Formats: sequence, structure tokens, C-alpha cells
Amino acid sequence: MTSKELRKIFLDFFKKRGHAVVPSSSLLPDDPSVLLTTAGVQQFKPYYTGEADPVKDFKSKRTASIQKSFRTSDIDEVGDESHLTFFEMLGNFSFGYKPGEPVSPNGGYFKKEAIKYAYDFITKELNLPISYVTIFSAKERSFIIPTDEESREIWKALGVSDVREEGMDDVFWGPTGNGGPCGPTTEIYCRNASGKDVEIWNIVFNEYFFPGSREELLSGVSGKKLEPLKTPGVDTGMGFERLAMIVQNVPTIFDTDLFALTIKALPAELTDRVKRILADHLRGSIFLLAEGVLPSNKEAGYILRRLVRRSLVYENMHKIDPYIFNFVINLIIDEYSEVYPELIRSKDAIEAEFTKERDKFSKTLKKGVSELNKLKEKGNITASDAFYLYETFGLPYEIIKEIAQEKAISLEYGDFEKEFKRHQEVSRKGQEKKFGGHGLILDTGELKAATEDEVKKVTRLHTATHLLQSALRSVLGGEVKQMGSDITPERMRFDFSFSRKMTPEELEKVEREINNVISQDFSVIMEEMVYEDAIKKGAFAFFKEKYPSRVFVYSIKDNKGGFYSQELCGGPHVKKTSEIGKFKIIKEESVGAGTRRIRAVIEL
Ligand code: SER
Repeated sequence: MTSKELRKIFLDFFKKRGHAVVPSSSLLPDDPSVLLTTAGVQQFKPYYTGEADPVKDFKSKRTASIQKSFRTSDIDEVGDESHLTFFEMLGNFSFGYKPGEPVSPNGGYFKKEAIKYAYDFITKELNLPISYVTIFSAKERSFIIPTDEESREIWKALGVSDVREEGMDDVFWGPTGNGGPCGPTTEIYCRNASGKDVEIWNIVFNEYFFPGSREELLSGVSGKKLEPLKTPGVDTGMGFERLAMIVQNVPTIFDTDLFALTIKALPAELTDRVKRILADHLRGSIFLLAEGVLPSNKEAGYILRRLVRRSLVYENMHKIDPYIFNFVINLIIDEYSEVYPELIRSKDAIEAEFTKERDKFSKTLKKGVSELNKLKEKGNITASDAFYLYETFGLPYEIIKEIAQEKAISLEYGDFEKEFKRHQEVSRKGQEKKFGGHGLILDTGELKAATEDEVKKVTRLHTATHLLQSALRSVLGGEVKQMGSDITPERMRFDFSFSRKMTPEELEKVEREINNVISQDFSVIMEEMVYEDAIKKGAFAFFKEKYPSRVFVYSIKDNKGGFYSQELCGGPHVKKTSEIGKFKIIKEESVGAGTRRIRAVIEL
């Protein structure tokens, strides 16, 4: 069975059973607490909590989808037989089940129907034997959630006798981001061509709502309460590539028809591992680029850059002709464009961004590799060498390992990470000393001020960067995001994502808006709060993994009770906007793919 047939069979199966087929949502979720869409359930979160009405939107309390998904947690495992960054997830969903009431053909359903559908789909529609299933058990931890006896009984009644118990870590889903529906799951395992049992379907019973993150739920000390959902529901997820591997009876996902052409197009002399990394990373990059993500040092752009650059490192290392990458990119776009027409629409842009990133990265890469070779001659590569190469040239840890080979045998990821944290800590301390303990200064670049007067000047410009980000978004639109900044007492440099040159009228508008805010003398207020709350309030943040759990949020309040700007930041800032002085843009220019730079000064 081809993967194309498999898509159709899955959606038809659930359509016949009252489910509305819903297109995949974007890889960039609406939910600001989640960087990328990691599962089909993401777009349906509000239907479980009652914030949105499925009948109004889908004419059914049941939906099915094939969702573009992306997970970064396994990025370092990519290259083995089964891990991916980008993947597709098949899923069926039920909302608004009322316990005790009869289930109607397009009404909400729960455990009995969900398990039966999955069983029928796997064993009857696809004719695959189930090796075993798992259910949630409370035994590992004295947790308030009871063992899922109901699912055990349902499986047994269907004739599946191998029902294994697992705990919180394996069979309890969610919540994602800052909170949401969550609950116990039951998983289906099937055997692949190499005789290994692999998990293919995760059926989640959303019985609960938790108003905090999964970490808070697991820690048990957040003080937040797990509440039963009034109308429980079902969320299921089945990795498309894995299912295709089982159905096509091949040993790895890279042997399925989803990857066959790509793998064949890559130079035969590459190892399987490198071929798989390239197949995954090129595909993932294409899908991110098609969503309008551009390589950068922040958030989704950072993930994209990592995928593209890692691919380029291999291209360089193995002297692969750039023509081959272009060929593979086109191949992947053609392969998927029937299902995802956005790929065709962005084809030229995808190719162009890849080329731009190659041009930008190649110099640094060359320097980095030659530096690494120099270090190798001196002896073994230490964690501090690795961090230096990473920080200065962007050489990823695994590439350092790969190039240095036996000279990096004793280099461990944990040590590299420690080094990374130590550097962060040192630069934080440095900032605190200079600015009287304002805490973290994030992404404001190196503040090199020393005298009191200079500190004042830098502080004014610093607040002005917040105003600039808001003004740019108001004039150019929401795609604008700060990518970095650099402030000296004399001037500021502010980099942001935007795809074209700004017109003189736009620059004037931005400048006028900022000076208008300055003259209205808005107050700048600092609050300390937990990261999740800050994001919930809508504060701007950068790549989220950089933040500690408690953060400072600087809000520039307007005079109507709202705010003009709100950002996570370490400060320091002025107290009132009138302290800033007259803001003047000196120059607007390009600093590479999709990134613009504004230079500005304060005229006192
Ligand atoms: N949300 C669950 C998962 O990702 C089921 O879809 O596994």
C-alpha cells in the first residue's frame, strides 16, 4: 500500500464514522506558549475546554486530521532508524462526551468507541496484528489518578490479551504549553519488518484539565489543581511515517515510499546515518520555510537555522555538490505538494533562502573547521574548546564530535552543556554588576557602558528598542520580530525580521509613532513573574529555552489602561518615556536573509 493510499484509507475510515475531516493547521500554533505544533490535538485544544463549539465549526463532535508536526526533543537522535523532527500525525478526536448519555453517530465518544475504532482500523482495515497494548497504571507513583481499568476491560473484550501497565512518564499525555486538557492514554504496538515491536498509536483520554505546565503537574508542588473536564474527550495520534513502515513491511521509516526517492538521490557513498539526517533536516527545513519561518537566532527561526546549517555542514564535509541539495529540495516539494500546496507556492522562496543561508554560513564554517583542525593538532578537544567553536563559529556539538573523531572521544554532551550554562551565568553576573542587580539582560547585546552618564544613555536607548519593536509591528505588521540588538552610549542597532526594504514613508511613520509615545510620557513598569504567566499576558519573548522560570516583564503603559509594549527583559529602563529624548532613525539596511537593521540615536 502506498502512503498516498494510506492517507485516504485513514481519513475515509473516520469520515464513515461521523468524523469531519479537518485540514492540518499551521506548524506555527496560535498558542504562544508552544513554539511549534507537536501533535494533531494542538488546533483542537479549545474544543475540549468548551471555549469553542465543534458543532458550529465542524457540524460534528468528531474530527479526523493528518497534521504537520514538529518535535525538537529528539533532534539529536535523528539518524537512527525511527527519529524525525518533522513528521505527520494521523488522528481522530472526540469532544463533548457526556458520561452516561447514549453516543450518537456524530456525537462525542469516549474509551469504548475510541479503542474499538483503533482496533478495527489496525486489525480489519489494515489487516495488521497487534503485538500488545499499554494502559495507564497508578502503581509507580502514589498519584491521584487511578489505574485505567476500564480500558483494560475494553481491550480484553476485543480479544487483545497482552495488556501492559505503564506509568505517568509513558502513558499520560499533556498538558502542552501553559496548561490544558490532559489524561491517561492507551498505546498500540505492532511488529515491524525487523521483528521489533514499535508504538504506533497513542489514544489519549482527555479526562482532566490542568492549569499549568506538565512539569508543574509532575512536580506536584505548584499548588495548581488537576480538575476533571466536564465533557471529557478523545485525542489520538499515530505517526504517519511509522505506520507506513509497518504497513509497507520495511525495516525503517527511511525505507518507506515517503523517503525512498530522497535517500536514493543523495550520494551513495554517504553513510545511512548522514543520509537519514539530511532526508529529515531538508524535509523539515522545507516545511518550516513554507510557513514563512526564516533562519534566525530566535525561536522557530533558530530551529530552522540549526536544520539548514547542520545539513550544510554535511554538504561541506562530504563535498556534496550544492546542485544535489537543490535537486532533493525540489523532489521533496513535488512529493508533498499535492497534500500541501503551500510548498509549491513557496518553492522559489525556499530555494532562495537555502542558497542565502549557504552563502552566509560558508565563511564561518570554513573558519570554524580550520580552527577545529588547529585545536585537534594540539590535543584532545575539551568541552571548553567545543563551546568556543560553537559560540564563535556556530559549529554544532555533534559536528565537532564528527569532525574531531578520536580527538573528541572523551567529549561529553553533558560537559558541553555545563560549559554553556557557566558562560551564561558569567555574562549575567557581569550585567548585574554594571546595572545594579537588575537581573538578566536578555538579547540586548553587550552593554559596554561604564560611567554613570553612559549608563543613562544606554538605558534610554534600551527603552527605545522596546518602543521600536512595537512601532515596527504597528507600521509593518505582526511578522516583525526582534532578532537582536546592540547598544552603545552613542547609538543603537536593532535587527528584526522583515522581508524587504522599508520605504521612507514607513521609516518616517515609525519614527513619528515613537516620538509621539515619548511625548505622551507613558510609564515603564517592571514586574517579576513566572515565565508562563508572562507569556500568557502576551509579553514578547525570544527563544524560550533561554529563560529562567522567573522573569522580569517591562510594560510601557499607555494612558488608557492598556500597554504600548510588553517584553521579557532584564532592564535597565527609564521610568517615564519622556526621559528618552528625541528618537531618530539614521539608517535602515539589510543584514542578510529576511533580516533588516535599523540604526538609531537619541537627540537630546
Ligand atoms: N496528543 C497525543 C500524542 O501526541 C495523541 O495525539 O501522542
